[in-house]
Amino acid sequence: MKAFDLHAQTLLQTILSARRDVRGNRFQGTPIEDEVLRKILEAAISAPSVGFSQPWKFVIVKDTSKREAIYEEFVRENAKAAKLFSEDSLYSTLKLEGIKESALNIAVLYQKPTKTVLGQTTQKKMGEYSVVCAIQNLWLMARAYNIGVGWVSILRPKRVKKILEISDDYKLIGYLTLGYVDKFLDEPELLKLGWENKKTIDEVVEWV
Ligand SMILES: Cc1cc2nc3c(=O)[nH]c(=O)nc-3n(C[C@H](O)[C@H](O)[C@H](O)COP(=O)(O)O)c2cc1C
Repeated sequence: MKAFDLHAQTLLQTILSARRDVRGNRFQGTPIEDEVLRKILEAAISAPSVGFSQPWKFVIVKDTSKREAIYEEFVRENAKAAKLFSEDSLYSTLKLEGIKESALNIAVLYQKPTKTVLGQTTQKKMGEYSVVCAIQNLWLMARAYNIGVGWVSILRPKRVKKILEISDDYKLIGYLTLGYVDKFLDEPELLKLGWENKKTIDEVVEWV
């Protein structure tokens, strides 16, 4: 059995606390080395998955014209979103993506099952949740390599799939932007800006 010590526990907590969602104003555009990207993807595929189905797929997007098309999709969808937040003048000032400024984008997909999956017989979304576990692993390992990750969700999955020519065998779970950054904020940006407060353990834990 591998037993970890206080040093490892502290280090893991440090990485967890230092992980940030990174947007375009922080990315530097420096390329990510292939071997580093591989380590990050290896971390992603060591995530737990329902029935060990490993239903993930990662589409690396470097092509500038495809990224431009995805960016245009973001602009369209964000204009609609801005109307929903028209009372709050902060929304329109937020930078909510880094599609073009990042070194690369990754579309993280869920491969729809072609056979019955152990553990996914009652709760059908378990495969999709497994892909989210992979995204979190990716996010943390990227941070360990001092690479920022941004999750861009103001996009219609159908449109993203069309731009990237992804077949109907897959569902888009997350669209990520990765790159080296000038700095990582010490706290979530939305906390700093007063958009949301940080919840305490007491607020989110209930004992029954
Ligand atoms: C599922 C998911 C979707 C998100 N989508 C966006 C997004 O579209 N744009 C954005 O700027 N941040 C997005 N975020 C980042 C969150 O705003 C961020 O995680 C949160 O404010 C906490 O900040 P931190 O990740 O830096 O700790 C997303 C995060 C998650 C987990």
